[in-house]
Amino acid sequence: MLNAPAAERNKEPILAVLRGCVDPRGPLQALEVSSGTGQHVAHFARALPHITWQPSEYDHQSLASIEAYRTHYQLDGVKPAIHLDASSPWDSWGSGSLQAESLDLVVNINMIHISPIACTEGLFKGAGHILKPQGILLTYGPYAVNGQITPESNVNFDLSLRQRNAAWGLRDIALLSSMAQRRGLFLEKVVDMPANNKCLLFRKESLV
Ligand SMILES: C[S@@+](CC[C@H](N)C(=O)[O-])C[C@H]1O[C@@H](n2cnc3c(N)ncnc32)[C@H](O)[C@@H]1O
Repeated sequence: MLNAPAAERNKEPILAVLRGCVDPRGPLQALEVSSGTGQHVAHFARALPHITWQPSEYDHQSLASIEAYRTHYQLDGVKPAIHLDASSPWDSWGSGSLQAESLDLVVNINMIHISPIACTEGLFKGAGHILKPQGILLTYGPYAVNGQITPESNVNFDLSLRQRNAAWGLRDIALLSSMAQRRGLFLEKVVDMPANNKCLLFRKESLV
């Protein structure tokens, strides 16, 4: 059970946003793309038992950690984690185990700025296919707004990301919104979060 301090800090504020946007009655089906350690899915599953969660990861060590959380907390509402490369075609995710228009919710936390843009394109394309009409894609992280990154700590974070990998860096909300729209996902809400992060809520409004 790996522990990421940032996930420990942000899991409760993100849960509060989830509570505000999902149908409280259920049952609902959710996919988490890039689950990391498994801390988020374990937290969300215990708080929102009417949602069945499908965690996923690109990194094999993280897959093992998600499984450790699932076992430790005996999370019946969490399926075994699947391998998922967000930049690969959605119908290959989890060896093709995900069905078109089968999910109510897709969650993606802190991946968009720490991966090449092909992962974000794949995330939107995949979400456009696997979400039911009116389904929600929630992304969380730091973003640029109208070409501006604020405050100084996020400017420095963006620079440090680009130094580590030139294909990484904070993405502009306007760019994400237009990329999502091409996949039938419409940016419905931007929620300011602690530590200069935001939640973006996209809704699938039409068949793609
Ligand atoms: C900063 S971590 C965030 C993990 C977790 N969501 C969290 O907030 O604690 C970035 C994650 O993106 C994942 N990632 C990197 N490339 C990916 C890809 N091609 N497809 C899916 N996930 C990827 C990494 O394995 C890592 O878990």
